[in-house]
Amino acid sequence: MILKNCSVRPVWFPLIIVIILFSSCGSSHQEKKYTIGFSQCTGLDLWRRTMLYEMKTELSLHSNVNFIYADAKGNSKLQIEQVRKMLNSKIDVLIISPNEVHPLAIVVKEAYDKGIPTIIIDRKTSSSQYTAYIGADNYELGRMAANYLGTTFKGNIKVIEVMGLAGSSPAIERERGFRDGIKLFPHIKLKQRLSGNWLKDIAEKRLKARTGSLADINAVFAHNDDMGVGARNVFRTLDGAGKVKIIGVDALPGPGGGMEMVSDRLLTASVVYPTCGKEAVVTAFKILNNEPFVKDNILKSLIVDSNNVELMKMQYSKITSQQVDIEKQQKLIAEQVSIYKSQQIILNIVVISLVLALILGGLVFISSKENRKINISLEAKNFEIQNQRNQLIEMSAKAEAAMEGRLNFFTNISHEFRTPLTLMLSPLSDVLTKEKLTLKAEKNLKLVSQNAHRLLRLVNQLIDYRKIEIDKQKIKATENNIVSYVREIVENFRIHAQQHDIHLFFFTTERKLNVWFDVNMLDKVFFNLIANAIKCSTSQGKVTVKISTNETNHVIVTVEDTGIGMSPEDVALIFDQFYQADNAPINGSGIGLSLSREIVMLHHGNIDVKSQKWKGTSFTITLPLGDSHLDVSEKVTAGADRTINVEELNTYKADLERVSSNTPAITLDFPKDISVLIIEDNADLLNYLQDQLSLHYDVFTAINGNDGLSQAYEKVPDIVISDVVLPGYSGKEITKILKSDFRTSHIPVILLTAQASIDQQISGMNAMADLYISKPFHIDYLLAGISNLLRNRIILKKHFSTDLNSIDKTRTTKTLDKKFLSDLSAIVEQNLANERFSIEDICKLLGISRMQLYRKVKALLDCNISDYILNRRLKKAQFLLSTEDLTISEVTYMVGFSNPNYFATVFKSKYGKTPSEFKKA
Ligand code: FRU
Repeated sequence: MILKNCSVRPVWFPLIIVIILFSSCGSSHQEKKYTIGFSQCTGLDLWRRTMLYEMKTELSLHSNVNFIYADAKGNSKLQIEQVRKMLNSKIDVLIISPNEVHPLAIVVKEAYDKGIPTIIIDRKTSSSQYTAYIGADNYELGRMAANYLGTTFKGNIKVIEVMGLAGSSPAIERERGFRDGIKLFPHIKLKQRLSGNWLKDIAEKRLKARTGSLADINAVFAHNDDMGVGARNVFRTLDGAGKVKIIGVDALPGPGGGMEMVSDRLLTASVVYPTCGKEAVVTAFKILNNEPFVKDNILKSLIVDSNNVELMKMQYSKITSQQVDIEKQQKLIAEQVSIYKSQQIILNIVVISLVLALILGGLVFISSKENRKINISLEAKNFEIQNQRNQLIEMSAKAEAAMEGRLNFFTNISHEFRTPLTLMLSPLSDVLTKEKLTLKAEKNLKLVSQNAHRLLRLVNQLIDYRKIEIDKQKIKATENNIVSYVREIVENFRIHAQQHDIHLFFFTTERKLNVWFDVNMLDKVFFNLIANAIKCSTSQGKVTVKISTNETNHVIVTVEDTGIGMSPEDVALIFDQFYQADNAPINGSGIGLSLSREIVMLHHGNIDVKSQKWKGTSFTITLPLGDSHLDVSEKVTAGADRTINVEELNTYKADLERVSSNTPAITLDFPKDISVLIIEDNADLLNYLQDQLSLHYDVFTAINGNDGLSQAYEKVPDIVISDVVLPGYSGKEITKILKSDFRTSHIPVILLTAQASIDQQISGMNAMADLYISKPFHIDYLLAGISNLLRNRIILKKHFSTDLNSIDKTRTTKTLDKKFLSDLSAIVEQNLANERFSIEDICKLLGISRMQLYRKVKALLDCNISDYILNRRLKKAQFLLSTEDLTISEVTYMVGFSNPNYFATVFKSKYGKTPSEFKKA
């Protein structure tokens, strides 16, 4: 393994700096934004459009303004609504040119009350609550018109006045000014007055309607130029129209304006009425910036007629061209500003990038320095690892050689074992079949025979394995009927299956099937699989052997059981050399399945396994049909011995042999009030232990973990002896479960195991086992262990029963036992006065059975539960009699007795004194 250092610097760090710098650049020039609302009474005519244009031009000089414009189209009601909407949308200043004096006064007041600065322009309202007014003096304007007529024209002047909208302030004021003005000129007579609503068409229409009465009229005062032109149109149709003088108001410069009308002789004269758009915006900013401003800003006015109109027009066009220049310059300035701004941004970016580059450069420098250091230390580590690897390779080569040596040694020794074992077995068989033996001797000799067979099987397997693995032994295949071959093997196991209460089935799809195989080798595979299947099965289980063929020209033999099955982890390793499944029911070296696989492979076949925990296992062997897959060296033509190897078969059957435990019951020389539960899956060891222990104890047995656990709960034995590796729950699991349940926590557990390493022993003790004995063990050692544990228990019992109140101080007591005793003590204490209090009540409250309660109290306190309750009642009575001033009958009831005489008798038998004698003493 090569270690490399790749240190990663956070890239977001420079980004954050950029963001901070940019955001700080942007925020430094932030101006306050204002909203100005402008409510126009009508936006239709040129005068109003000019006003709006002026405003917009002025506003363009300010970038921080939001301008809201609303045109009421000459409708006062609409204008009120529009102003209210503006007030609600939070404007900072209201500019209003009110349509009529009275209706609009209300909204002007509302704006003022809301604290919104209100600028009135041109027309007025009846409200005096406004911030500023800008406009010309309309009264003065009316007087100027009268004065112009009176001084410029001699002779009788008969005037018709064409007025603006009746309710609007300029109309009212111009009419008043004109009326007062003509009073100074007796040759001027106001003949008629009509309203043109500020509009040319209406004025024209209404004058036309009166053409009959206009014959002597020689002057018109129109309140604006548009209505003046309307009047000119009407008078043009009448005789002497050329002589009629028409004075208008507004005198707007530019095309279509009043100045042009004067210049074109449509009007005689016009009074300049300034549009005041620019002034309104200037005043608004003064108010917003808290600068001083003029509240009533009255703009100047003058008369324009044929004498000065050309001069005025010239001045205007000059102003206009200057204005255009100014606008051009403003545009240029704006462009320059935007160029400046973008250059400023670029400059900022360049500066920031430079700073970042410097920072990053610094970081890179630091990190490369660190990297160098780390790389040096990694290189050293790599070197170390390489060294270790080489050492490991060397060690494993040595281990392999050692293993090889050991295997050789085992094989050689195995060969040595074979002869003596065979020599032991035949005389044994003779003795067993021919001699008259006592039952006990027969049982013991059968046990010897069985184990000698087992040993022989292991030795054979080891030798076979060796032959195949190391000596590369080849098969000697002959063509044989595999159906009859397998059937014969199955039949050989039938009697054992029956003994184990297992149904053994043989199914075949073919009556005869010739297959090339080594008759002296393949039988070992089937011996092993069928024997295992029977051993793995529980009573009433099924073992099925099936033969069939498939479409790819193979014969398939399956050996299936409905037994305990295996976990996926065990399945994955089951064919490995010397592997033993955790709960392997097979007490062997673990070489059997590995050897089977080697044999099947030699036959160019395949072996597979499928298994499910608690459901069963199925082994499938697939062998090719025909002989094309075989090398010449793998075939023998001379007729091979086709019968199965009986001697070998016996070594497999030996495991299934039941050595009956029908030994006559051993007479008990002392009462067996101590019970022992033995959990062991090896039937021989179980029988042996049962025989040995039943001499001293009452013995229960279980052959798997699950049964063992349920018996422990049901019988609550005084001691449990269990194997570690078991089908179902392992010994360690059983120990943990029993020790963590207060119903069984007091039971000492002895674990028996072949796993003798110190680590395994420690793990056994960690599982809370009281004793860990490794196999093989001497029975006396086990017996000594049992009595030792029982003695300890007795010491504890004494301790508990002498002083129940000191339970909590006992350090040696296990937590759960302590809890049980304190719960029991509390329940009894609470019910001492209750004469109906029963053992059933305790069982219910503790949630355990009567049997469990009885056993637990016996085990921990060495007394029965009724005695315990009675003792507690009497102890309490003793306490009450000596410490409280109570009568005997009061005490009687307080400790749950219903009759004082009976109480006295019981008390005396326990303490040798009656309660009253005790009280006096
Ligand atoms: C335009 C106008 C002008 C007049 C002014 C009075 O709408 O009629 O011609 O001078 O309004 O408010």
